[in-house]
Amino acid sequence: MIIFGSANALPGLDAGWERIERGDSAMDAVETAVRIIEDNLEDHTVGSSGLANVLGEVELDASIMDGTTRATGAIGALHGYAHPISVARALMTALPHVMLVGAGADAFAHEIGAEKRDLATAASRELWEARFRALAVEHPEPGKAVAATNALLTYAHAAGTVNVIAVDARGHVASAVSTSGWPWKYPGRLGDTPVIGAGNYADGRHGAAACTGFGELSIRGVTAYSVVRNMHDGTDVLEACRLAILDLAPMADPAIDNLTMSIVACSRSGEVAAVSTIPGAEYAVREEGMDRAACRPRLHVPFHSGEMANGQG
Ligand code: GLY
Repeated sequence: MIIFGSANALPGLDAGWERIERGDSAMDAVETAVRIIEDNLEDHTVGSSGLANVLGEVELDASIMDGTTRATGAIGALHGYAHPISVARALMTALPHVMLVGAGADAFAHEIGAEKRDLATAASRELWEARFRALAVEHPEPGKAVAATNALLTYAHAAGTVNVIAVDARGHVASAVSTSGWPWKYPGRLGDTPVIGAGNYADGRHGAAACTGFGELSIRGVTAYSVVRNMHDGTDVLEACRLAILDLAPMADPAIDNLTMSIVACSRSGEVAAVSTIPGAEYAVREEGMDRAACRPRLHVPFHSGEMANGQG
């Protein structure tokens, strides 16, 4: 058994671990862990207190995948609900669909009685507003927001998001990802989080992977699937992650400083790897023999090195 994910998943991993320790499924564990991060008001990249789009609306994306069946549910641009990960999971059984977005996602969340919440907090509103002030950008009208979006967006903010992968006592793997997406994004923008294969993929025959960082890149590279496919093709999990980052390199403009792509993954047997294009990045993990979840260093894999840095990445 193991549960692990992005470093900001740390506050949720012990609760997820307790689920698998008492015999619950990996799906239960990853949902439990992610819900805690969706409630974490200190985290402005996920759930409540997540930063808003350019119009000031918090739009949430989430997906969850059961590696045993490859069943999945994904929700995009959801407004005003506390736990997009649970809305995504509910979709798996409520309808023969795998993804709902925008008004349809909102209607579905309402119909299943999902918990409503005003997602903005005083702190998240101030962080959001401060960038308008700092750049002297006027608040745009709906339908006239392209110029303001381009003025406000910065690649340095295309990071954050929480992901969690668990392997339960039966050896079943599941993965879950949740985000408020790129702050000041154009309304309706989806990143990789709800796109199965891009930000999230679990296939119990080979392993699972989930991404954080610049979602436009991992959509184009189908990065989470690419990691699992590499394992299918015979690489170990660390090499699978490294190759998936390097596969993105031709699309990652070297002029963009600090462009982030981070991957956590595990093999079918539960061997874990975590890599990032950013030096010093960490991931969070709880496994047997640990009293509580802890962070460990990711391996640093720069986009343009073409070789693995030996690092504390
Ligand atoms: N990786 C999260 C996003 O791009 O929205």
